[in-house]
Amino acid sequence: MNYSGKPYPQRKSKGSGSRAAGNHSPLSARLPSEAFIGDQMAVVDPEAIYQARETLRQEIGRSLESEWRRLVEAPQDYVSEGILSQERCISRIKLLRLFEVREASTQVTGPAHDKSQRLRDLTGRVALVTGSTDGVGRVVALRLGEAGARVLVHGRDAERGIRIVADIEKAGGAATFFRADLASLAEVRRLAAAVREETSRLDMLINNAGIGTAGGVRQESADGFELRFAVNYLAGFLLTRLLLPLLEASAPARIVNVSSAGQQAIDFADVMLIRGYSGARAYCQSKLAQVMLTIDLADELAGTGVTATCLHPATYMNTTMVHRAGVTPISTVEQGAEAILNLAVSPALAGRSGLYFNGLREARAHAQVDDTEARRHLRRLSLELTGLADD
Ligand SMILES: NC(=O)c1ccc[n+]([C@@H]2O[C@H](COP(=O)([O-])OP(=O)(O)OC[C@H]3O[C@@H](n4cnc5c(N)ncnc54)[C@H](OP(=O)(O)O)[C@@H]3O)[C@@H](O)[C@H]2O)c1
Repeated sequence: MNYSGKPYPQRKSKGSGSRAAGNHSPLSARLPSEAFIGDQMAVVDPEAIYQARETLRQEIGRSLESEWRRLVEAPQDYVSEGILSQERCISRIKLLRLFEVREASTQVTGPAHDKSQRLRDLTGRVALVTGSTDGVGRVVALRLGEAGARVLVHGRDAERGIRIVADIEKAGGAATFFRADLASLAEVRRLAAAVREETSRLDMLINNAGIGTAGGVRQESADGFELRFAVNYLAGFLLTRLLLPLLEASAPARIVNVSSAGQQAIDFADVMLIRGYSGARAYCQSKLAQVMLTIDLADELAGTGVTATCLHPATYMNTTMVHRAGVTPISTVEQGAEAILNLAVSPALAGRSGLYFNGLREARAHAQVDDTEARRHLRRLSLELTGLADD
């Protein structure tokens, strides 16, 4: 979907001004919470969102790209100008914020994956799964271990990491735990060095660690970057680049970036979200950055035998991240793990690169992914922020 529709003539909603004047409850108190947005993201059909966006565009008579910040930050303007009633303003802003966080289309473009497939024998393969001390990453690590892969388990909590290694070993597999806080680029470098020290091959790199939408207060990483951008995207960018020689030497090898359907365009004038921060916005821009990275890597790695794919694993799995956001889970971690493993090991996807999947089906990501200039911009910025531009 693109935002560059023709401008509509200015139009007023019927009777909006007088009804608005009689209602004095503060708008800000009635705007949607992240949890509300989260719930809606799960249930609102993209087509319905698109239709609602068109309606709002007509109601306010201006393009939404230029108006959204004012709509979110100063919605009372529209009420006082008589363009929207207060009630209508609230309901429209709820939808607008949905567009903001839910621009990614869930439109699937590929056939269904055959779920009856068992994981093939992975003996002799080595997989690094970041964020495998919890949630969907933990299940992916366990399943890879059961299938015979040697699993490099990663997380921040050594106790949980060691427990997962023990579970994999109990099931007959082999695993090693690596502790690293991805909120520090120095720790990412240390992790990459430790992995290179530990293994002479790497067949699968699954960049899964992440922080969710919860929390309305902007936070920074150890390096002073917006925290979700740093952990969900930049750490994976750096880790992947540092491990590329190992992956290339092990080809055919696969990189899988665990993104999300919650994607939002990156505003290159404010990547660190100094203005207009919200947890959902931070999360969604970091998830889009992962998809852009995947497409970029796929181009770069063409012909090397290393593929890069990414996905939305499943909607609202029963994980810590989802509980913290105050959202009721609607999928299981097993469903999400199945989708991640499909990209990591499915023979049907051998040699296929630059794909975005929604669960088990190929899908279309946010339109900014197709913007080559935006991808180039993100790559340049990422090289600079990680210090790789100087290497
Ligand atoms: N849950 C969903 O419905 C959903 C939907 C779409 C996409 N996803 C994506 O799926 C991935 C996994 O999510 P999940 O729901 O399984 O989350 P989760 O249960 O909260 O697990 C997140 C994992 O990432 C690790 N992690 C977080 N911050 C870290 C940091 N600073 N350094 C190192 N490790 C860190 C966590 O380690 P600790 O245990 O130390 O915190 C944990 O192992 C994420 O990338 C998420 O965006 C999830």
